Amino acid sequence: MDIEHVRSRFIKHFDGSTGVIYASPGRINLIGEHTDYNGGFVFPGAIDKGIVAEIKPNGTQTVKAYSIDLKDYVEFGLNEEDAPRASWSRYIFGVCREMIKRGVEVQGFNTAFAGDVPLGAGMSSSAALESTYAYALNDLFGENRIDKFELAKVGQATEHNYCGVNCGIMDQFASVFGKKDHLIRLDCRSLEYQYFPFEAKGYRLVLVDSVVKHELASSAYNKRRQSCETVVAAIQNRHPHVEFLRDCNCDMLEEVKAEISEEDYMRAKYVIEEIQRVLDVSDALEKGDFETVGQKMYETHYGMSKLYEVSCEELDFLNDVAFDCGVTGSRVMGGGFGGCTINLVKEELYSTFIDKAKEAFAQKFGRSPKVYDVVISDGARRLE
Ligand code: GLA
Repeated sequence: MDIEHVRSRFIKHFDGSTGVIYASPGRINLIGEHTDYNGGFVFPGAIDKGIVAEIKPNGTQTVKAYSIDLKDYVEFGLNEEDAPRASWSRYIFGVCREMIKRGVEVQGFNTAFAGDVPLGAGMSSSAALESTYAYALNDLFGENRIDKFELAKVGQATEHNYCGVNCGIMDQFASVFGKKDHLIRLDCRSLEYQYFPFEAKGYRLVLVDSVVKHELASSAYNKRRQSCETVVAAIQNRHPHVEFLRDCNCDMLEEVKAEISEEDYMRAKYVIEEIQRVLDVSDALEKGDFETVGQKMYETHYGMSKLYEVSCEELDFLNDVAFDCGVTGSRVMGGGFGGCTINLVKEELYSTFIDKAKEAFAQKFGRSPKVYDVVISDGARRLE
């Protein structure tokens, strides 16, 4: 994350003075996909790629925002009817509004920001943007009264209310709570969480980016969530205590099979199994049993591809290459419909796998996948 670059652009774009610099990371997720909005478990960690923003109150009621990467400039007011059009600026506007709703007296500010989380690669560039501004506004205008969980919820509510994605809490949680060298298991129902030191001696985590960006990702995502809620409603008729798919098991799902569509049945089956896989992976990690971790990752990929149907040809291909190379674990990461696979690979296999993945992918699809080594890093912060 290039702080000097942001500072020089901020100085150039505005009146020559400087503000305060904040940063927030994107995330990986070891396992637990589409489980967050089902009250289940996730296992994310923050990464060394994210958003850096410089911000300075400007004494007006107008936000003046410059996206360094897009070379785009937008001004907007702070009232609900002032929502800007440009999609990137809606994230900043949404965060301002959500902070105001929580009693923070947000005033106008000048800001410039840049990022190195690849967009649309399933590493949560939007959560990084939201957390950066939630953290900053809390610091600049809120005397840090809003706690970290609420900051994560500000980002999530921004997605729901201003960006049209009914996401869960995982991405914003990871971006705010990230800790160097640690993955975090979060129970998305109770919001209890636990840091796990991630010391996979002899292994590396690497992302292989299919560079596929799915246009319909947000509507397809919302549709998956809808399916889960439909199944919960059906199960609730027999089991009133059930609130989320987290509270269901496969027997309960079988009971309602005839009442729900085949598609909704598959979606729910995936989620119920995936929630269990996160627990199995936690146990395996505690024992240092990376073979089991890897096997569960492959199972997740299968479920995301065949039951939840959020994979695509390119990701399935990368998953097959990983398997054929003997990679310990591999699966599509994040919401799906494009983006990266996350791979747990033995040190000694690393180069063979990466070379093979690049070569085979280029042969089949006529372009190279991008490769990112994962460095697990700290969450949202103020950079002095
Ligand atoms: C996206 C959402 C998250 C989560 C993942 C899938 O990243 O923002 O809330 O649902 O997809 O696990």
